[in-house]
Amino acid sequence: IDISKLRGATNGVITIDPGFKNTGSCVSEITFLEGEKGILRYRGYSIEELAEKADFLEVAYLLIFGELPTEEELEKFHADIKKNSVVDDDVKKILDAFPKAAHPMGVLSSLTSALTAFNPGSVDVSSEEAMYNAIVRIMGQFPVLVSWTMRKKQGLPLDYGDNSLGYVENVLKMMFKQPNEEYKLNPILVEALDKLLILHGDHEQNCSTSTVRVVGSSHAGLFASLSAGISALWGPLHGGANQAVLEMLEAIKEDGGDTKKYMAKAKDKNDPFRLMGFGHRVYKNFDPRAKIIKVAADEVLADLGVNDPILEIAKGLEQEALTDEYFVSRKLYPNVDFYSGIIYRAMGIPVEMFTVMFALGRLPGWIAQWREMRLRKEPIGRPRQIYIGATERAFVPVENR
Ligand code: ACO
Repeated sequence: IDISKLRGATNGVITIDPGFKNTGSCVSEITFLEGEKGILRYRGYSIEELAEKADFLEVAYLLIFGELPTEEELEKFHADIKKNSVVDDDVKKILDAFPKAAHPMGVLSSLTSALTAFNPGSVDVSSEEAMYNAIVRIMGQFPVLVSWTMRKKQGLPLDYGDNSLGYVENVLKMMFKQPNEEYKLNPILVEALDKLLILHGDHEQNCSTSTVRVVGSSHAGLFASLSAGISALWGPLHGGANQAVLEMLEAIKEDGGDTKKYMAKAKDKNDPFRLMGFGHRVYKNFDPRAKIIKVAADEVLADLGVNDPILEIAKGLEQEALTDEYFVSRKLYPNVDFYSGIIYRAMGIPVEMFTVMFALGRLPGWIAQWREMRLRKEPIGRPRQIYIGATERAFVPVENR
């Protein structure tokens, strides 16, 4: 049944579903998610297999275009991305105008939106070719913006990528290369980042993705739609949780490491504190991404020889939550972001950049969802409401109020 046609047939009856907990906004062929069983698949491939065997660019291609690329297709995709990776130098002036203390997510959202001004042709995506051009351009330029937001904060010179490197290797080099020093890639970091980006690749109709689809449904351009998605991701109830988790773990450590005290706070309904990194709108059993990340965090820390007491606090909280009636009865389990920050920290990525890294991983998912929405010629997203305000009343001039 096409429910969009039901309104006329039912005399204007509409559904109220705050938070869209039970509302499907579209049909989609991209990501399959079964929350009760902890299943996540991109285009039919399990997240476990993709995280183990694929690389991020392959997964990006899979998400966006629907099939795993052949070697030739992957090469062409990468070559087109590289060709389109030069950000207009004037974007640096915009970046310069931000205060140094600005949060990187705000900066990234603004710069992504600004790319439209420098590429006005990207808004017209009426042909598949035009759509492809906009896609490779943002896949090429987004990592540059990501690295610039970090380097600006650290007072480092802004640079472009190294086209001889793989996509993820290039991201690392752009972020970490110090002036007058050769940058040596660490394969452990490359693999860890690759895996993290794959795990964040897509997650069907979450808050930021729904935002991208709704904004794009008005036929605003891809970059403007992505910019809106970045803003949605920023919030601590969504992507911002990875920063919030690490800040919470730090605070617990500073406070003597008493995890029980924070468990009690999280359960106290008069206390606004929530255990960040716990709970998920859809996963009510376990988050398959969290399982993969927990193992990866152990491996990366061991490989890098890092002994982080914060990992112990995180494991302690998880253990307590597993047997706690409040958490068990509400089906609250660690989500993908509970452990990702620990890896990012070990990689030397500043806390404020964590959600930016999430955005980098989610980029292909947003693009895929936007492309699907446009190719399916979906109508403009425009929910209804039930009005509960004042009934009609007469205007009172200001002197009589
Ligand atoms: N700590 C303590 N209690 C919690 C938590 C938490 N982290 N999460 C949910 N609850 C409680 C709620 O208070 C509520 O309790 P009640 O039934 O007694 O009122 C119950 O569990 C259900 O929670 P809701 O908020 O109704 O669940 P919803 O699906 O709306 O929210 C969300 C999901 C936003 C993820 C929530 O669990 C949360 O705030 N978690 C912490 C933030 C976080 O980690 N976000 C990242 C999500 S993953 C991602 O975006 C990649």
